Amino acid sequence: MTQTLTLRRPDDMHLHLRDGAMLAAVLPETARHFARAIIMPNLVPPVVTGAEAAAYRDRILACLPEGMAFEPLMTLYLTEATDPADVAAAHASGLVKAVKLYPAGATTNSASGVRDFDKVRAVLETMAEIGLPLCVHGEVTDPAIDIFDREAVFIDRVLDPVRRATPGLRVVMEHITTRDGVDYARSGGDDLGATITTHHLIINRNHILAGGIKPHYYCLPVAKRESHRLALREAATSGEARFFLGTDSAPHPDHLKEHACGCAGCFTATNTMPLLAHVFEEERALDRLEAFASLNGAAFYRLPPNAGRLVLEKTADPAEWPDKIGREAGPVTVFNPGFPVYWHVKD
Ligand code: DOR
Ligand code: ZN
Repeated sequence: MTQTLTLRRPDDMHLHLRDGAMLAAVLPETARHFARAIIMPNLVPPVVTGAEAAAYRDRILACLPEGMAFEPLMTLYLTEATDPADVAAAHASGLVKAVKLYPAGATTNSASGVRDFDKVRAVLETMAEIGLPLCVHGEVTDPAIDIFDREAVFIDRVLDPVRRATPGLRVVMEHITTRDGVDYARSGGDDLGATITTHHLIINRNHILAGGIKPHYYCLPVAKRESHRLALREAATSGEARFFLGTDSAPHPDHLKEHACGCAGCFTATNTMPLLAHVFEEERALDRLEAFASLNGAAFYRLPPNAGRLVLEKTADPAEWPDKIGREAGPVTVFNPGFPVYWHVKD
């Protein structure tokens, strides 16, 4: 028997759209299901100023196929040279919804990120005053720290000190991957949120490394051991307002994933909503999927929930989606959960 689940149209509060031909290839994959997304600014060169964010927004909207509605929620890439007045103006105009902090060297295109936090103090204080959230890639870059410990160490060494030094700063811990991240997010008030990706609810580090290396499961922060995945599932399905969806869907062409030095990123824009319905059903929490994907993120960003709806259906036939998308810019492999999924998005 067909089961139906109707949600407010969801938002993706952490998305990589890239630029040029890749942007054109991946944008419809998100816009098909999502009304809005927080757009990551790690282009080459990065989106640093309000003027650059406005130009990028125009390029995104110019790529949107006829008949699709989608609102890109723009962010600025925090550098040690970021001008607090430019950030304040970009926020006041309604263009920019967050500023993204990449510790320098932490991940893809993060070379312009922050090394010395004293240099961004004035920007963070301005953001605390105006209520503009800081989205944080929470990993230390110290080569002496094991890659599986980098999130937990970041919380102690960087995130907690920055939050204590900047009272009122609103922070989103992006793509948390550990129980430590879940616990720290719960230690905060309504000034602290955390996004969780689809893929971190599905894979642990064995999926990447056991039985042959799987480059399409490699992302940053890297998936951790099973106990952490279970903590993320508990958090995502808890219904708590602080946890919301940010897919971190991050397209790379296959030849750069299947490479001696493969890029980090899982591409989940195409199948995130069926995968989430599968996960939430497994956790007996289908009634909380709307909070996670459609309500909590909007509330954190002080946006109204979307007016539209998304209908999911569970049928006897497994869902089908393309193995790969994109021609000129790709191909880009769509995240394969490794099990059949019976939830479909109804057109
Ligand atoms: O896996 C990732 N890919 N993690 C990031 O933080 C960046 C992203 C990308 O831009 O490819
Ligand atoms: Zn990301």
